[in-house]
Amino acid sequence: MPIKTAVVLAAGEGTRLRPLTYTRPKLMIPVAGKPFLHHMLAEVAEAGIKRAVVVIGYKGELVKGYLDAHAKEIGLKIEYAWQDKPLGTGHAFAAAANAVKDERFVGMCGDNFYPAKDVAAFVRRAEKEQNFLVGAIEVKEPWRYGIFSVQGERVTRVFEKPANPPSNLANTSLYVFEREMFESARRLSRSPRGEYEITDVLRVLAGRNRLKFHRLSYWKDLGKPWDVLDFNKKFLEGLKGKIRGEVRRGAHLEGEVFVGKGAEVLPGAYIQGPVWIGEDCEIGPNCYLRPNVSLGEKTGIGQAVEMKNSVVFGRTNVKHLSYIGDSVIGEGCNIAAGTITANLRHDKGNIKMVIKGELMDTEKKKLGLIMADNSKTGINNSIFSGKCIGPNSWTDVAAVVDRDVPPNSFLKRDGRILEMRAFSAPAASKK
Ligand code: DAU
Repeated sequence: MPIKTAVVLAAGEGTRLRPLTYTRPKLMIPVAGKPFLHHMLAEVAEAGIKRAVVVIGYKGELVKGYLDAHAKEIGLKIEYAWQDKPLGTGHAFAAAANAVKDERFVGMCGDNFYPAKDVAAFVRRAEKEQNFLVGAIEVKEPWRYGIFSVQGERVTRVFEKPANPPSNLANTSLYVFEREMFESARRLSRSPRGEYEITDVLRVLAGRNRLKFHRLSYWKDLGKPWDVLDFNKKFLEGLKGKIRGEVRRGAHLEGEVFVGKGAEVLPGAYIQGPVWIGEDCEIGPNCYLRPNVSLGEKTGIGQAVEMKNSVVFGRTNVKHLSYIGDSVIGEGCNIAAGTITANLRHDKGNIKMVIKGELMDTEKKKLGLIMADNSKTGINNSIFSGKCIGPNSWTDVAAVVDRDVPPNSFLKRDGRILEMRAFSAPAASKK
């Protein structure tokens, strides 16, 4: 029987992607002009899946609103299941039980990217066999994933983020399940990290000799802020340039450049594709956009601004005398004149970032600023590499941003961080 339905988990916040996710779930972060989830679901549709049950929760109305408007373009019939609290991946699958009518279906995490050809081969294989199937791939840091012990094609044991991994073969969260899994998902007890986890269902299936694995050729999840830049670059690789707006004489475009409807590219703008310019943007005069820049709608880039390998969500202005490199800038931001991001250390060492309180090696030589929605820099700011700002935060005139600026805060020139009270934008989630 052909497998036609996918259950896509999209209910989590993505706390490791804070501060970007205080105001939107991580799947709604735009990369190469569209939310990550759009790209991901388009691959699923291309693989031959017809219908998706998307499990939503954290800021689920944003996900639903977007998908309702774009389901046709993506090529899927989309329904929703609400998970009221993010109690775990097993709990999220259980929330989809009533919406799934088919006996067998594909399960996947919405923050994971699987190329269409891999999903298609995975599903075709499952259609020929009567097993539960899981997608697997070798990883460099097995302690960060679910890890399998295998014998031939069978998974014999499953370990969730093991301290001493028995192998490098990781769970990619791509599954073919039968409906009976919902019963096991409902009966789960909490794992050591306090969640109802799908890996406990896998463990039971492996114990009964009913779980096989299938190697994928590529897999990557959107887990950390710098993954936004990696995905942006990856999706821009296939960009076909189109001019739907207006490019004035004296602007110079090279390579694949997409200019959205209503956007204007003014004289003196020099753009090296691949670059995505969203609807109603104003670019120039006299600016330099280098490869792998994606600008969301109504963004303004002005005189003497240089930008490279960066994502701007939209409705943001960078109007005068700035350098923005390897950075992610949210929606509704203002980057004031003279704001300069550092994106490379003098010693050319890897840039480190604080993720959920832990100082992490990004393994990136180049990384600039991560700025969340509705934030502003003051004029003449110097921003150290790998720093975060906001959301709803400001920095002072001539501030040196050498530390992360929390949500709803004001970084003063003398280095003090004050709480911003008089700000009307919605407060960031406390979770
Ligand atoms: O796919 C990579 C890894 O994903 C696997 O190797 C692990 O075995 C698997 O357990 C899972 O681990 P994570 O720690 O990355 O799972 P996370 O809690 O981040 O959730 C994965 C996705 O599921 C994410 O898209 C959000 C969604 N989710 C998560 C929770 C906890 C929900 O929809 N509801 C939830 O309650």
